[in-house]
Amino acid sequence: MAAAAERVNALRASIAQHDYRYYVLDDPEVPDAEYDRLVKQLKALEAEHPELVSPDSPTQRVSGAPASEFGEVVHRVPMLSLDNAFEPDDIERFDRRIRERLETEDSIAYSCEPKLDGLAVTLLYENGQLVRGATRGDGIHGEDVTANLRTLPTVPLRLVGDRFPAVLEARGEVFMSLDGFARMNREALEKGEKVFVNPRNAAAGSLRQLDPRITATRPLEIFFYGVGFVEDAELPGRHSELLAQLRDWGLRVSAETTVARGAEGLLAYYAAIGARRPTLKYQIDGVVYKVDSLLQQRELGFVARAPRWAIAHKYPAQEEMTTVRDVEWQVGRTGALTPVARLDPVFVGGVTVSNATLHNVDELRRKDVRAGDSVIVRRAGDVIPEVVRVVIERRPAGAVDVQVPGVCPVCGSEVRRIEGESVLRCTGGLVCAAQRKESLKHFAGRRAMDIDGLGDKVIEQLVDTKMVKNAADLYSLSAEQLAGLERMGEKSARNLVDAIERSKTSTLPRFLYALGIPNVGESTALAVAESFGDLEPLQSADVERIMEVPDVGPVVAAAIREFFGEARNRAVLDGLRRRGVSWPIVEAERSTHQPLSGRTFVLTGTLPSLSRADAASAIRKAGGRVTSSVTKKTDYLLAGDDPGSKLTAANELGVRIITEAEFSVLIVARSPS
Ligand code: IVH
Repeated sequence: MAAAAERVNALRASIAQHDYRYYVLDDPEVPDAEYDRLVKQLKALEAEHPELVSPDSPTQRVSGAPASEFGEVVHRVPMLSLDNAFEPDDIERFDRRIRERLETEDSIAYSCEPKLDGLAVTLLYENGQLVRGATRGDGIHGEDVTANLRTLPTVPLRLVGDRFPAVLEARGEVFMSLDGFARMNREALEKGEKVFVNPRNAAAGSLRQLDPRITATRPLEIFFYGVGFVEDAELPGRHSELLAQLRDWGLRVSAETTVARGAEGLLAYYAAIGARRPTLKYQIDGVVYKVDSLLQQRELGFVARAPRWAIAHKYPAQEEMTTVRDVEWQVGRTGALTPVARLDPVFVGGVTVSNATLHNVDELRRKDVRAGDSVIVRRAGDVIPEVVRVVIERRPAGAVDVQVPGVCPVCGSEVRRIEGESVLRCTGGLVCAAQRKESLKHFAGRRAMDIDGLGDKVIEQLVDTKMVKNAADLYSLSAEQLAGLERMGEKSARNLVDAIERSKTSTLPRFLYALGIPNVGESTALAVAESFGDLEPLQSADVERIMEVPDVGPVVAAAIREFFGEARNRAVLDGLRRRGVSWPIVEAERSTHQPLSGRTFVLTGTLPSLSRADAASAIRKAGGRVTSSVTKKTDYLLAGDDPGSKLTAANELGVRIITEAEFSVLIVARSPS
């Protein structure tokens, strides 16, 4: 008997330790199977000795009968809310106010944390045991949701170690990860149950279930960010230390927290988290800054229901609801037809969106988007806005189903669907004005022939007026002809002719990329150029020879072969060469590996292993350029810890931001094997 009790205790302690390693430290010590074995053993022992079952046993997370309603909890320390800020100015004012109140010129240290988009809860631990959990409610009165909170694997039933306070109220945010949310909605849909509009509502709805067995099936998680009532404990002097302390007691804290100084430090944190926001596994609606010194916090105090020492700095919403006016089909460079929803304009992710992609015909069918539907539109980071889903409850009676076209909406050629693919394709090739326009836009692009001033609007007019049918025609345009176009003065016409002229001196990789051969991106174009040295040998090469190029497989090789096999394409190539488009021959043996050739980098912040000087020298050796400020011409911002205003600039200009890890992939990405 005593032996069984000991074994039960040992198993519980070891399970608690594994939970801590897994959930709090994110560093599991044993494989899942081993963990499951321990839980199974504990369950078996408890079944044999029911008298040993205790409420803090990991087997007892789901317990208690469904309630008819939740009890009320009065918070001993009120649960406050936060003031919101949106603009950098608001943050500068916030920081200034604090320095004025504290009568100091010194820069203030702030604890910076992501603002999880879920719901606030408070958990009461007495002598290390979880005794009660409640929602925030109105800040004074909350609901007793203990049985539900116990079911969250990230809520410890017992604190770790033995140096915790006699009474500890830990506060945090319950939320649902994006993956968990998608999975839950998928399952709900399959069972014909109600789906939730967003992860936040799903988290709130799941936590407020009267039956804890239902909550237990929902993928809820928690991050802790502070404390309420604490008795019999010496707390550290800084909020950041308090967070570390909570972590040591087994309470999970976000790994994205840091300490920054002054308004500048706060804005850099905002930008850094903002850049990562699209890749985070959960939704955040902002970041929170808190004066780090608890002494200073006390001195600053509260106004109404919010502390003076903290503020929430919000990001623009990434998801909004709007109405679909119509669904149209857009024809791309290779003829692929993409369904695009035309929307009532809506402000989302920091811009006004009036078109959102539905990707392909299968997605359109799966999401069942109809004209007239209310839809959720998402724009995260720089990605193209997309329709996430229809709000089916709001579907009007007259919603119109979308017809899949049998012929190309632009040129009337037959539309085909390739077996096993979701893509519908217009078979018109360069007969199709849409494909022609898109190929020309690609050809003129900055990474291709880089023809300054040859924008989308000009290309559209050139194709519509039949002045240009293919890329070669560009090189016979005169300033007089161009000046006849809409919104084109004589001066810009002349500038454009000059730019076209300049683009004649190109490089083989750029030229190959500019051709827009399906599946041939920049890195493939470079590898092919390095392998063949010039265009003629490539034009006459067979698939086997093309497959000798590093990283070129049968699909890409076939696409290249097919492109050069086509008489129409060969005619365009001849035309381009005749009109003087040229490149220096790539000497095969000189193919010293220059993977970053033509790329411009800016560096900011502290990199984990490289010094700035080493990174810069590596970039130069690989053929790249390093400049000191971020402009539209910058290709990459290589950002480390504590990045400065360059990160904000990069975000604003849509410059790609990469970490040292990503950089190291880039610099070797195109190594010849
Ligand atoms: S601190 C006295 N920290 O935001 C300060 N709140 O708008 C009280 N939230 O009710 C809150 N992440 O639900 C704090 N790191 C964080 C937070 C956070 C999310 C939520 C919380 C609170 C609301 C206030």
